[in-house]
Amino acid sequence: MNIAVAGLGHVGLVTAVAMSAIGHEVIGIDTDEQRIAALQYSEPPYFEPGLQEELALQVRLGRLRFTTDPETAYVGADVVFICVGTPPQANGEANLIAVEGAAHDIGFWAPDGCVVVEKSTVPCGTHKRLVIALGGNSRLDVAANPEFLREGTALKDTLEPTRIVVGAETEAVHRVLRDVYAPLTDSGTPYIATDVATAELAKHASNSLLATKISFMNMIALICDRTGADVTKVAEVMGADPRIGKEFLNAGLGFGGFCFPKDVAALSHTAKALGVHTTLLDDVLDLNDRARDAVYLKIEDALWNIQGKQIAVLGLAFKPDTDDIRYSPAVALCGMLLRNQAVVVAWDPQADVAAQAELPKLVIADSPYTAAQGSDLLVIATEWPETYTLDYERLASLMRGRVIVDARNVLDDWAREYATKFGFTVIGVGR
Ligand code: UDX
Repeated sequence: MNIAVAGLGHVGLVTAVAMSAIGHEVIGIDTDEQRIAALQYSEPPYFEPGLQEELALQVRLGRLRFTTDPETAYVGADVVFICVGTPPQANGEANLIAVEGAAHDIGFWAPDGCVVVEKSTVPCGTHKRLVIALGGNSRLDVAANPEFLREGTALKDTLEPTRIVVGAETEAVHRVLRDVYAPLTDSGTPYIATDVATAELAKHASNSLLATKISFMNMIALICDRTGADVTKVAEVMGADPRIGKEFLNAGLGFGGFCFPKDVAALSHTAKALGVHTTLLDDVLDLNDRARDAVYLKIEDALWNIQGKQIAVLGLAFKPDTDDIRYSPAVALCGMLLRNQAVVVAWDPQADVAAQAELPKLVIADSPYTAAQGSDLLVIATEWPETYTLDYERLASLMRGRVIVDARNVLDDWAREYATKFGFTVIGVGR
């Protein structure tokens, strides 16, 4: 099928590459000319494992093209996926200006019978506005097909999803989307058919529940810190119950990235506008801030005065295997330390340049050991694989202090005991 993908950010580019990889003819469109120029040379605008290779392959096979021109993108499209950004406004409400802009172009150029699919995460009810922005006629059909990909495993998540969720108002539209996804459903991926509003809401509901699990565990961690219980063992016990599930129970520095914070805020905003009580969602966001504050207080407690102390921070990305620092708790923690006059020497294999642009006072190190040199304390802020296998003997010979704050609970009992052999005190979260 001929597929156009509007917006080539974290969701759009992966969607375009994946659609091409399953055999469709794909054209990606973005308003950013530099991005398009780079993509034509198979250069993705961000780091995502495996993406560059698959992008280069699909471009070479001639199945994937890029443009900034709406006519070129939409005129021959059977299906258009809208993947433009929906960033939060100050009140939490999603900003849908880019969705509207894309819809105007699609409404003008797309052929009769084209199916326009919301893939960007949008508030429940957006499709009604989308129909109007597309021109308000019945020439085009609208569907919602939320994307559940995670940064770091985005391509795999898209090519091997746990489920394909499509909201549409007619069986004819479902038939088109079933054809699009046939290569995946043929190999067993379930296709969940809903109406459009349900699919829109399901995405916000899924992300908000995952964020709730994390905040719940961060709340339990605060109780553990005060009682001597171990939150990692509490999580093990809870996760053994299939009704709870063992994923997303890791307490730590809190959640970040461009989805959870904005989606929880957007769902809360939507609910409030509908007169639905949402203190649960507001608490999820509040507990997330408190998780970061609690780590800051552990550092302060260990060092007494923060001012003038040198702190090594391992990890800046909001999670491993990405260079994304949007809403990164690690960067927020660095900001708090810098505001309180600490010298912060940070290491991150992918996100260092972006973080330093945001925090110019950050000193960037090229390895965990360079960051540790002369530091009074070391914080593990993002669980990059390197943080699991630190050489404590070497760290002890380099650092001025002997405290490790493991803000992601990456160190198991063995690693913690090993670190203590070299004089370290290891402070975890809720353990
Ligand atoms: C998320 C959803 O998982 C994905 O389905 C959706 O499409 C987009 O949003 P992503 O933001 O890429 O994906 O990252 P994810 O792996 O979900 O982690 C989000 C944040 O939660 C990270 O900051 C991570 O460190 C944190 N987290 C995750 C925890 O603090 N504890 C956990 O147990 C799990």
